[in-house]
Order: sequence, then structure tokens, then C-alpha cells
Amino acid sequence: MWNEAQLDEALSAPDSGLIKDFKALDGDIMILGAGGKIGPTLAAMAKNAVEQSGCKRRVIAVSRFSDPFAVKLFEAKQIECIPCDLTNPDEIARLPKVKNIIYMAGRKFGTSGAECETWEMNAAVPAYVTRHFEDARYVVFSTSNIYPFAACASGGNTEDVPPSPIGEYAISCLGRERIFEYAAKHFGAKVVQFRLSYAIDLRYGILYDICNWIMNGKSVPLAVPAFNCVWQRYVNEVALRSLLIASENVEILNVTGPELVSVRYAATRLGQLLGREVKFEGEEGERGILCNSSRCVRLFGYPDMGLEEMMQKQAEWVLGGGRQLNKPTHFEESKGKF
Ligand SMILES: NC(=O)c1ccc[n+]([C@@H]2O[C@H](COP(=O)([O-])OP(=O)(O)OC[C@H]3O[C@@H](n4cnc5c(N)ncnc54)[C@H](OP(=O)(O)O)[C@@H]3O)[C@@H](O)[C@H]2O)c1
Repeated sequence: MWNEAQLDEALSAPDSGLIKDFKALDGDIMILGAGGKIGPTLAAMAKNAVEQSGCKRRVIAVSRFSDPFAVKLFEAKQIECIPCDLTNPDEIARLPKVKNIIYMAGRKFGTSGAECETWEMNAAVPAYVTRHFEDARYVVFSTSNIYPFAACASGGNTEDVPPSPIGEYAISCLGRERIFEYAAKHFGAKVVQFRLSYAIDLRYGILYDICNWIMNGKSVPLAVPAFNCVWQRYVNEVALRSLLIASENVEILNVTGPELVSVRYAATRLGQLLGREVKFEGEEGERGILCNSSRCVRLFGYPDMGLEEMMQKQAEWVLGGGRQLNKPTHFEESKGKF
């Protein structure tokens, strides 16, 4: 089993496509909201790719830095960090103007009952940011929650399916996309709407959630019957390479694994790997938050880790007592209430 340093290393290893792209990219890179679940290994990958491409380029992590584990990784990789509360436009005004932005800041859990906080974070902050950085390139982390629920037989929502978000969190995420679209139209911003569906990092993610239910003797709910998920190393790689496809015409990219994963199948296989009995709850529904990632695969190739290997690594991590973030995905939520 990997230890945590080896996991971080695996998630932040660039492949040759990224190193080649970084030779072609111009300008420094800033990651806004870098202190969360994905940002630290994404920033570390950017730093590795800069070093391996031989180009001089600043990689700047911007966040409030509330997670000490993230801070430890930034320090170990000697990544430049600028503390900033992005809800404060005066603090944004002090950030150096760079050409390349990976935009990861957002708010999801806690939305029910505090909806205005989510709107400030997901819709107002993008307006403050785009008025400061104006015509930069932006890879904007978004979510598959903005699509309608799709039937399992459909093959998942493609980028051509019009948004139809359910619940205030998902609607505010569409708001975030629209503000960046406005910046493309009016300030010359180059934008990719990076619609991510469930990264797997072992410390959190859908596979972790299912293992957690199994280990605690809880039943696995089947009402949302299927999902897509993707190895976080691939997410980091595709996010950084997407800087080169950012466009004033606003590119949309679904980012997830190519497998449509049955919850029953995944839980049964994880139960075997964990050596535990699996209990199920309810009947299988027909629809889920399902995305079609064909465009991403066409542009950037298949993810380097498939479902079976992710499940094996996830079970090893859980059995070995690997650190968990205690941040469930709530992928089983079907009413959009977070
Ligand atoms: N992880 C997934 O599987 C997944 C799936 C779909 C979509 N997404 C979206 O992709 C983005 C990145 O994912 P993630 O899992 O890394 O999200 P995350 O864990 O929520 O990280 C975002 C980070 O943004 C920072 N932030 C929040 N408010 C801020 C503020 N006012 N000023 C400065 N920084 C602030 C926070 O770090 P500090 O406390 O250090 O400020 C937070 O940890 C998010 O928008 C998420 O919703 C993620």
C-alpha cells in the first residue's frame, strides 16, 4: 500500500503530454482555491511539469490555507503561496495579474439553510475575479450537477445537453459558468468550463464512501444506481492541459472516467476486496448524474487508471488505515439538497 507521501507523488506526476504542452504555454499559472481536496496535488503537478519542461514559470497557490496537510505539501514542494480570501475584492486586487488561472474555489456542503453564502462564493466571487484578471485564460472547475439526471441507458450527458440544474447548489454552479461566459464575451477571457464528475484520491471520493458504508455495516443505497468517477491524477493533468484549449468561444469539457459504474457492482467488488459482507438498501433507480467523457478522451486520451485498479487501491488504503478527509461526496443525493 502507498503511504500518504507516495499517494501525493502518484497524483502529482505529470506525463509527457503535459510537459510538451507546458513548453508551448506562455505566462505564469495561478490556482485559486488551491487549499482544498484537489488543489494541492494539482499545484504540485504544475510545479513538477514546469521543472521538467525546463521553462521558467511561476506556479502560485492562492487560498485561505485552512488545511495544515495542504500547507505541508505546498511547503515540501516549495510552491509559492499567497493567502487571500476571495470574497474580499480588496484582497483580490493585490494578487499579481497572471495569464493562466485554474479556478477551483467553490462552496457545496452547507448550502441548505445558508444559500446566500453559496451564491456569494459560486457566483459573486467569479465576478470579482474576472474583473481583476480580465482577459486571462481560465480553466473553471464546474460540476456534472448542472446537467439533468440521465438514464443509465443514455450513455450519459454529453456537452451538448443543455443545463438543467436541480437545487440551489447546482443552480449557483451554472451561475458561476455564466459569469465566466460573460467575461469571455466582454473582457476577452479565454474559458474552459471543466465539468468534473467525482475524482478519486483514496482519502475521499465515491469509492471511499462505499467502503466506509461497508466497513461500518451500513447498507449501500441503490436509488441512485450508477455513477462515473475518475483518478485524480488524470483530473490534474487534464485541468492543466486544458489551459491550451481555453477560448473566447467558451469550451465545455466533461471530465470523468469512461466507465458507467453500477453501484451494486462496485459495492459487491469492494466488499470482496475488503473481505466484508455488503448490505443494500432500496431498489435500483433508473437515473443518475451521468456524464459522457468522449470529448475529453478524444483530446487527452484515456485515464491512466481504470476502475478495477482504483477499487483495489481504495480497498488497500481503507484496510491499511490510510488517512481519510471525512468529506463524503453525497453522490446518493437525488434531490439536489447539499
Ligand atoms: N472533488 C471532486 O470530485 C469534485 C467534483 C465535481 C466538482 N468539483 C469542484 O471542483 C472544485 C475543486 O474541487 P475540490 O474537491 O478541491 O474542492 P474543495 O475541497 O471545496 O476546495 C476548494 C477550496 O477553495 C478554497 N476556498 C473556499 N472559499 C475560499 C475563499 N473565500 N477564499 C479563498 N479560497 C477559498 C478552500 O480552501 P481554503 O480553506 O484553504 O481557503 C477550499 O478547500 C470545487 O469547486 C468543487 O466543487 C470537485
